[in-house]
Amino acid sequence: MTDSIDIGVLDSGVGGLSVLREIRGLLPDTALGYIADSAFVPYGRLSAETIIERTCALADIVVAHGARMVVVACNTATAAAVPTLRTRLEVPVVGMEPAVKPAAQATRNGTIGVLATVGTLNSARFAALLDRFAGPVEVITQPCPGLVECVERGDLDSPETRLLVRRFVEPVVAGGADTLILGCTHYPFLRPVIEDCAGPGVALVDTGRAVARQVARVWESQGGGGSGGSARFWTSGSLAQLRHALDVLWAPGATAATLPGDGGTNHA
Ligand code: DGL
Repeated sequence: MTDSIDIGVLDSGVGGLSVLREIRGLLPDTALGYIADSAFVPYGRLSAETIIERTCALADIVVAHGARMVVVACNTATAAAVPTLRTRLEVPVVGMEPAVKPAAQATRNGTIGVLATVGTLNSARFAALLDRFAGPVEVITQPCPGLVECVERGDLDSPETRLLVRRFVEPVVAGGADTLILGCTHYPFLRPVIEDCAGPGVALVDTGRAVARQVARVWESQGGGGSGGSARFWTSGSLAQLRHALDVLWAPGATAATLPGDGGTNHA
């Protein structure tokens, strides 16, 4: 099948492109397929059951297109759905979570901040992550409703976006955090604004590169190779909006389509 993909990458929307670009950098010859579940974004406000249902439906679609690995490029979906996905799929699944361990090692003053969705911060998986890796470090968690939507619109730098970023970042910095985790794959696209707001004394930690390294390791352990360095994009929502976001966040003229059939909405 000429349009077959090697690796399927999933997110609630376009945030996972921040992970996809790192995967592309490490595995230039693989055929990548990306689904933005834009009809359901933001996942941060959905129940875990709905996120599991959606993530499984999307994973089935990329596997049906030939994917030999599934990457959940979304902290919120990983927290809710990766264990279920691993029991259902025969291909390896790579997920991601906020970089608590590296941040706890990097902090100089013993206080870190985590910017993430409500879904991620309320998950049992995140609580377990803190138990395991925070140790004596003080952790300030900050849900950021609205930021995902800014990135979905391709609005990375407007006064409204800056205002929202300031509202979330200022209290964390005022609380003493010298290290800030970007715990949602949408947020790396707001890095310049977040950096501006946090100031020069605060380090930002993002997991995209580490996830890509893990993807490359698993890919090589499965035999490696690749069917050409193509990238295809699908959305369950508006194609015009995906195209606009791809122009801003990926590259102009990317191959994009709406999900065929029911867009995965009827999958169990
Ligand atoms: N990119 C997703 C994440 O990493 C965004 C979640 C959402 O859609 O709320 O958490």
